[in-house]
Amino acid sequence: MRDKSQNLTRRAAITGTGSALSVAAFSRLSASAQGAQKKTDRNQVDSKSLAGLAAAKGLAFGASFAVHELDRPHGERYAEIYRHDCQVIASELCLKLAVLRPAPHVIDFDPADRFFAFAAENGLGVHGHTLIWDDYVPDWTKTLSRDEVDHLLNAHILTVLERYQGKAETWDVVNEPIAPWDKNPGNLRQGPFYGRLGEDYIAKAFRLARQIEPNAKLRLNEAQTESADENGAVFRKSLLALLKRQLDQGVPIDAVGLQCHLQTKRPYDFEQFADYVAELLELGLDVEITELDVNDNAYTGSLAQRDQQVAALYSKFLTTVLANPAISSLVLWQMSDATSWMADPNIRDSLRADGRAARPLPYDKNFQRKKAWTAIADALEKIPARAARKGNAASDAVRR
Ligand code: XIL
Repeated sequence: MRDKSQNLTRRAAITGTGSALSVAAFSRLSASAQGAQKKTDRNQVDSKSLAGLAAAKGLAFGASFAVHELDRPHGERYAEIYRHDCQVIASELCLKLAVLRPAPHVIDFDPADRFFAFAAENGLGVHGHTLIWDDYVPDWTKTLSRDEVDHLLNAHILTVLERYQGKAETWDVVNEPIAPWDKNPGNLRQGPFYGRLGEDYIAKAFRLARQIEPNAKLRLNEAQTESADENGAVFRKSLLALLKRQLDQGVPIDAVGLQCHLQTKRPYDFEQFADYVAELLELGLDVEITELDVNDNAYTGSLAQRDQQVAALYSKFLTTVLANPAISSLVLWQMSDATSWMADPNIRDSLRADGRAARPLPYDKNFQRKKAWTAIADALEKIPARAARKGNAASDAVRR
């Protein structure tokens, strides 16, 4: 799997896989987490920005952010868009296992440290993405034994949450556990964690994360639940069943993240999807939109027509789904077409048949606003205000 984290400059050897964490170290971490939670939401948001329009409705708005973009010629413009339009940022790459742990006894915190520093310098809240994911894993994890995977899971969560304790309001503790094509019971994704530990890896990860970060929102994040086709139906059913099984065992899951990578080639029925969101809310979980973008690979026509169609899909999705005031945050997967994962030729399905670049986001490749920006802004003005919820950073910002 390709590792996009540039600048692997300083690597520290760690006593990672192979050495058990002491009970004392574990208790120290848990104790120091109490009361260490720091508020990271910003004090002021421009009322005409996407974050400002969202905050006026009690919704936290943001996007994924990749620190290596700061080193490219467009770095300052990139940063400026996040300062202006976002209240929270999600870590796109720097916290993933393949980036943090490129080799068994190596851990590279440089990109993640820069990510957290950018958030702190600019008063942005952080969604930590992601602790445990059975995809995008470094090759060396694929041959580990059961005990080694068990140790990796524990050591990884402890190491990351200890280092960034109190600095993220939300953690994606488990990402994308569902993958029907792997043909496992419950449609669970195959990978080092599920493969060695079975479904229990999910409970282990959440329980440990809760001990270290009692105040952060712990989220299970899932993809492909949105489409009105057989694939979407299987994902929706499998995710709901998984959450029920976990909650029945008392696993401390606070929220479910729905990624919402929309694709123009798929059919949608957003009213039906909104009903699904309501079902998830009935479980007592927060529901958040975590990775919204619109892959326009199937749209033909001029750039203006494509932009209009993408904008229309954003508009329909947001006005329908965010009509439910319980959804407390909306995060896009990047802000600009220049930095979208769809600009990466190595990503499956990223390229259009006509060879032109996808136009999935509110800013174009030159960081100019597109119709999608206006569609998102208009939708944010139309949606109802959220009820003030504990831990809802946007409501807190508005109240100040
Ligand atoms: C993607 C990044 O955008 C890519 O740059 C990287 O190569 C692979 O991961 N679902 C997720 C995200 O949860 O972490 C993925 O991000 C996109 C799909």
